Amino acid sequence: MSDTENRIVIAIDGFSSCGKSTFAKAIAARLGYIFIDTGAMYRAVTLYALEQGAIRSGIVDEEAVVALLDDMDITFRFNPQRGASDIYVDGNLVEGKIRTIEVSNCVSQVSAIPAVRQKLVAMQQEMGRHRGVVMDGRDIGTVVFPDAELKLFMTADPAVRAQRRYDELSAKGQQVTLSDIERNVRERDQADMTRAVSPLRKAEDAIELDNSHMTIDEQMKWFMERLADVYRNRR
Ligand code: DC
Repeated sequence: MSDTENRIVIAIDGFSSCGKSTFAKAIAARLGYIFIDTGAMYRAVTLYALEQGAIRSGIVDEEAVVALLDDMDITFRFNPQRGASDIYVDGNLVEGKIRTIEVSNCVSQVSAIPAVRQKLVAMQQEMGRHRGVVMDGRDIGTVVFPDAELKLFMTADPAVRAQRRYDELSAKGQQVTLSDIERNVRERDQADMTRAVSPLRKAEDAIELDNSHMTIDEQMKWFMERLADVYRNRR
């Protein structure tokens, strides 16, 4: 097999704040693949909708959000310092602005809008067309790349996830409480699993990874064994 034929799609789905992006980024760096954080795309649409007044006092005006989609230009640019791509909307860097609690509180509603999913899924499929990508999200193994060669489904205890998100936001100087974060994590789990379009679910052929009590090194060792299985089964 040539190097190009060897390149596969790695789909990582799972609950919010499971460390999917950190893990996906580490895998991409190890394999020389492109890492795509699809959650960042749903967050970017949500931020733009907030800024444009399509969400007011936490109420999402679906028609107004859909009307914004055509004019909204989402791009990624690799940032060597972060070892990952930063997300831009209409040429403006929004990486820092998309991870606030305001965006987190509205993103499940925005990501449940069918036209939003349609646009972002098409972009994601285009970005992974040449394979060699690690994509993390909620519907990568089920909808975006049902033919991904390796699918992971990540879970972790909600209390552990809330603590991780709290530590991350506090380190960035955001004023948040652990109970607000835990409520948001549980509400988003519920919303992501029960929405009508592309609900979060484990693909039948996905391998589950509960990383509540695992370090990133332990996860990487586990992953490299699963990757070896993929290539062994292909021969
Ligand atoms: O991974 P994250 O927490 O940054 O994702 C933010 C939200 O976007 C999450 O609540 C659900 C939604 N999402 C989605 O519906 N489909 C994806 N592929 C990725 C994220």
